[in-house]
Amino acid sequence: MVEGAFEVEESFRFQGRTFEEYLELFDLDVGALSGSVLDCPGGPSSFTAVARSIGLKTYAVDPQYGRPISDMATDCEAAIADTEAQLRAKRDQFVWDYYGSVETRCRYLRAAGQRFLADYAQYPERYVVAALPDLPFVDDAVDSVLSAHLCFLYDDRLGLDFHQAALDELVRVASEEVRVFPLASLDMTRSEFVAPVAESLRERGHTVDFRNISYEFMPDVTELLVVSV
Ligand SMILES: C[S@@+](CC[C@H](N)C(=O)[O-])C[C@H]1O[C@@H](n2cnc3c(N)ncnc32)[C@H](O)[C@@H]1O
Repeated sequence: MVEGAFEVEESFRFQGRTFEEYLELFDLDVGALSGSVLDCPGGPSSFTAVARSIGLKTYAVDPQYGRPISDMATDCEAAIADTEAQLRAKRDQFVWDYYGSVETRCRYLRAAGQRFLADYAQYPERYVVAALPDLPFVDDAVDSVLSAHLCFLYDDRLGLDFHQAALDELVRVASEEVRVFPLASLDMTRSEFVAPVAESLRERGHTVDFRNISYEFMPDVTELLVVSV
């Protein structure tokens, strides 16, 4: 399937970003991080591993967890190799201020995956097999939720009903805040679902803000959704 600058398979890519990239995507200050955080979808991101190492109570959710570690490692490397080939072919369609090169971008993906796999092997209880829009957590289970590279990005296969249910679910399990990035779909333009989802959250009494972040990889895709619960 070809969507804008990316070609994606029908399934979702099992690749993840580093803790440091999460700080950029979600406009977070490491010194201000505290409490409990849910990363959903976690994928093979190193966010949970590194956040735990600095004292945060973090959990990650992904439907692709719960499999043998060797299978997750294989899928992660295959996804990164595919991304690498596509980025080399379409380098000019992205902004390289943050990464500098395709090699560095892929080095970060591999570093995140290796840290995730090592942490998963040691602390599998941090990694919960589940899928939006149904999370096995009680109301207000965590202080905040971070959600990157699922909602809005894959709006070609996840419809408006899914998005509304998914955001309602993320808000249900958070006692303070939900942050979602990016708000663009694979064609690199703002998803048509952003406005109705934001409206529906406001109607339910939540405060919805849009922030511009300095991290930019897809051109002009710098909007972060911040929902105060
Ligand atoms: C591109 S990864 C994003 C990982 C990480 N958040 C990041 O930004 O690096 C997308 C992940 O979404 C997961 N996923 C797919 N459908 C999902 C669902 N319904 N609920 C939660 N996660 C889902 C996939 O398994 C995949 O690991």
